[in-house]
Amino acid sequence: MRRHARQDNMEQAETVKRKESRSHGDGSFSLEDFSSIGKNVVIECGVLAFHPENIDLGENVYIGHNTILKGYHNNRMIIGDSTWIGQCCFLHSGGGLTIGEEVGIAPRVNILTAQHREGERSAPIRFCDLEYEPVKIERGCDIGIGAIILPGVTVGEGSIVGAGSVVTKDVPPYTVFAGNPAKKLRDRN
Ligand SMILES: CC(C)(COP(=O)(O)OP(=O)(O)OC[C@H]1O[C@@H](n2cnc3c(N)ncnc32)[C@H](O)[C@@H]1OP(=O)(O)O)[C@@H](O)C(=O)NCCC(=O)NCCS
Repeated sequence: MRRHARQDNMEQAETVKRKESRSHGDGSFSLEDFSSIGKNVVIECGVLAFHPENIDLGENVYIGHNTILKGYHNNRMIIGDSTWIGQCCFLHSGGGLTIGEEVGIAPRVNILTAQHREGERSAPIRFCDLEYEPVKIERGCDIGIGAIILPGVTVGEGSIVGAGSVVTKDVPPYTVFAGNPAKKLRDRN
């Protein structure tokens, strides 16, 4: 009898090795836990920092309430001098995250530096290998409220990303990008 492809897939899925769930900890930290920290850094209440030993904070950095610094054991998060990060952001650095000096990151911005590869159809994506790619936000950029920056993207110096944009490709320096997927609106004056 002809077997249904979906049934085959489900049976194969049974053989997929599932990873054990484990806690990442509670994200609490002390200032001395960071790899480095400059003068006059403001970290508001509710901020969580994972693997702070791999996070460098420059001078005069501001980190808004409830932002999550999702540091990793295997890569670094670098936040440059006088950069402002708004409330409720999610900054991931599994693939490496470098945010330059004097950058503005509006509230609820999400930056991702890893995603699961697609394996066999039978394998749930979340159990497939992770692929890590660095993100760079260069000096003087402004990232609009609620924007999402995907793995591997560089936002070039002095550029603006519009509110709610999904940035899938590099943004050249001194340009304005917006939309989903983000496209160039114009060069900056
Ligand atoms: C991207 C942005 C800078 C563009 O400003 P602008 O150059 O004055 O652009 P305009 O308002 O003239 O809009 C130009 C076009 O882009 C579109 N557009 C503007 N912002 C957009 C956005 N965020 N997403 C999608 N499209 C956008 C407009 O609808 C317009 O489209 P049309 O030509 O089809 O009518 C601005 O709209 C924006 O999103 N700013 C971010 C604000 C923010 O979050 N700041 C952080 C505060 S802490």
